[in-house]
Amino acid sequence: MNILITGGAGYIGSHAVQRLLREGHTAIVVDDLSRGHREAVNQLDAHADGRLYFYESSVGDGTRMERLMLDHDIDTVMHFAALAYVGESVEQPLRYYHNNVSCGIELLAACDRAAVSRFVFSSSCATYGEPGDEHIPLTEECPQSPVSPYGQTKLDFERILAAWSTSRQIANEPVAVAMLRYFNVAGADRSGTLGEDHAPETHLIPVAIEAALGKRDGMAVFGTDYPTPDGTCIRDYVHVEDLVDAHVRAMDRMQLGTPRAYNIGMGRGFSVREVLAAVKRVTNVSFPVREEPRRAGDPARLFACADRARNELEWNTTVNDLETVVESVWHWMQQHPDGYASVAASTKS
Ligand code: UFG
Repeated sequence: MNILITGGAGYIGSHAVQRLLREGHTAIVVDDLSRGHREAVNQLDAHADGRLYFYESSVGDGTRMERLMLDHDIDTVMHFAALAYVGESVEQPLRYYHNNVSCGIELLAACDRAAVSRFVFSSSCATYGEPGDEHIPLTEECPQSPVSPYGQTKLDFERILAAWSTSRQIANEPVAVAMLRYFNVAGADRSGTLGEDHAPETHLIPVAIEAALGKRDGMAVFGTDYPTPDGTCIRDYVHVEDLVDAHVRAMDRMQLGTPRAYNIGMGRGFSVREVLAAVKRVTNVSFPVREEPRRAGDPARLFACADRARNELEWNTTVNDLETVVESVWHWMQQHPDGYASVAASTKS
């Protein structure tokens, strides 16, 4: 199939492109490179046998999106392009609404004009906000009440997709929509080609590994007084390759009609202290860890009940322990001390 992957030069999008190419699909990548990496796409292109196309563009350029969909006879859109920092969304909400909602609307309108009827959307567990303990593990039925503009933009786009789907059903041109609500995505592809390269990096596992590599002067644990067994926050760290496997299964199985949402997580919660212990075990490096106050907006416990994805998508995680997740990041960051800039440098030399 010919698949348009927005944000395909980014962390999760590039892993999806890699998997789709391996499955024999043709990947049409659109990325404005504001956060994505051209080198990620270049590396994939080297083994794509001409089945990878790259276009530098915002998805908000609806005319261009329509043209690409028609020119490439697109069957399915996988929409990863988004701004995704919770803290930044609090500081710059308009930018988040513009990028994650307004540009997404342009993309959907282009789908309408080009008669593209299959859409897979990257949503987030951030749409649930701060669920009470009675909702843990989180099912898709948990009330959605985001506490950040980021989470709100993801929920808004879910609602827009639902309205779009209804309108297309009324018009007798039904669409198939899957919405994947990610938990904490982590890890790197185990062949060593792709990884996580964010500036600034704020996610727990890469931050800890940067500390282990001596790239930062230790690190902080945000909050040690949560109502959890060791006082630190509990999260569900799903390996990025398992996450993209859920996309492929959702794409293959989604049905015309009402959009379907799926929680995508390992289904196990690990505390911040447990993650740091795993990083120290894998790297065999000890680094200074400071205890700091809570970070605003961090819920105490979030982990998924992924039964719906298991039952309906026949999906399962292949990585069910922290060590394997951490090892893949450790391997990538050792091989790429400057992220994708290391790839660019080795290509030039
Ligand atoms: N943490 C630290 N120190 C750090 C970084 C993180 O203690 O240097 C803690 C955080 O406070 C949190 C946990 O580690 O308790 C995980 O934090 P991350 O920043 O790695 O991830 P988040 O849980 O904040 O974010 C994830 C996704 C977001 C999504 C959010 C929903 O990355 O896209 O979950 O809560 F919106």
